[in-house]
Amino acid sequence: MEVTASAPAKVILFGEHFVVYGKPAIVMAINKRVYVKAKPRNDRKIYINSLNLNASGFFENGKFTPETGGSKAKAKLEPVKAVVEKIFQLVEGKSGLEIEIDSKIPVAAGLGSSAAVAAATAKAISALFGVEIEKDEIFKIAYEAEKLVHGTPSGIDPAIATYGGTIIFQKNMGIKPFTVKCEIPLVIGDTGLKRSTGELVAKVRMNKEKYPSIMNPIIEAGGEIVERARKALEKGELEVLGELMNITHSLLSAVGVSHELLDKLVAAARRAGAYGAKLTGAGGGGCMIALANREMLERVASAIRDAGGTAFIAEKSNEGVRIESKH
Ligand code: PMV
Repeated sequence: MEVTASAPAKVILFGEHFVVYGKPAIVMAINKRVYVKAKPRNDRKIYINSLNLNASGFFENGKFTPETGGSKAKAKLEPVKAVVEKIFQLVEGKSGLEIEIDSKIPVAAGLGSSAAVAAATAKAISALFGVEIEKDEIFKIAYEAEKLVHGTPSGIDPAIATYGGTIIFQKNMGIKPFTVKCEIPLVIGDTGLKRSTGELVAKVRMNKEKYPSIMNPIIEAGGEIVERARKALEKGELEVLGELMNITHSLLSAVGVSHELLDKLVAAARRAGAYGAKLTGAGGGGCMIALANREMLERVASAIRDAGGTAFIAEKSNEGVRIESKH
């Protein structure tokens, strides 16, 4: 038997950083997915191969032997192994396994690839044991695995990877799905610059402590945008959404988390005819998004490439974690 499961990547449409100070954020699953293929082995080893992280190796009796990726491979694969252990507990079974991870999501770019890997792994391994676990359970397991990768994550990434669709997230209020009937045609531009979410969150905090009377109103405005954007999403007002993205980008720049190359990609997308564009996620590098009319998407993507980024077209994915094949 061999099972393949998948889970989607995400983009933060509105509210990044301001969410740290209690404002809501709007997060959407996109149609770029991570695929996890699993099959049993005849021995007791758990072999994990991540094609994108260039890491593979064997876990056996608490010991790890790398195959590729050397000494760094263990840390990269450990969260996947943690998901496997959780599933063993849940299904009250155990077996040697071969797990292959193939991601269509750029890594360390703020698109939620690690959470998608965790959710898809949980789904694939449980199906291999013939057990169908609830999405709420998959969310919990993926969240635990995320803690191994990111310390104290908000839970947005495992939620969107598990449930898909569009979610409003607010600290201490949790996760509320909401229905967006219109299409959200996006171009995602990647600066290729790796950054640390923790450092950027700390930078905003420093600015806020130094200039509270200036920064606090910006954070308030960031929260107001989310309220307005929610209505625009419900009504399908793409032009309004584009304008709100432009304002958000300026606010994020004001609190200190844009980057020269992000600004360049955002400007190129707008010039090429996007309704609006903004950085997405932590900023300081990573990715930006541009909202555009379907006919304009290719043009916007090529403008982003000309400006020095990589780009791909994406849209909303209503489906969260799912089985792709079982045979
Ligand atoms: O780039 P990401 O997906 O790690 O997003 C970070 C979002 C922040 O609001 C900057 C931090 C957070 O924990 O919400």
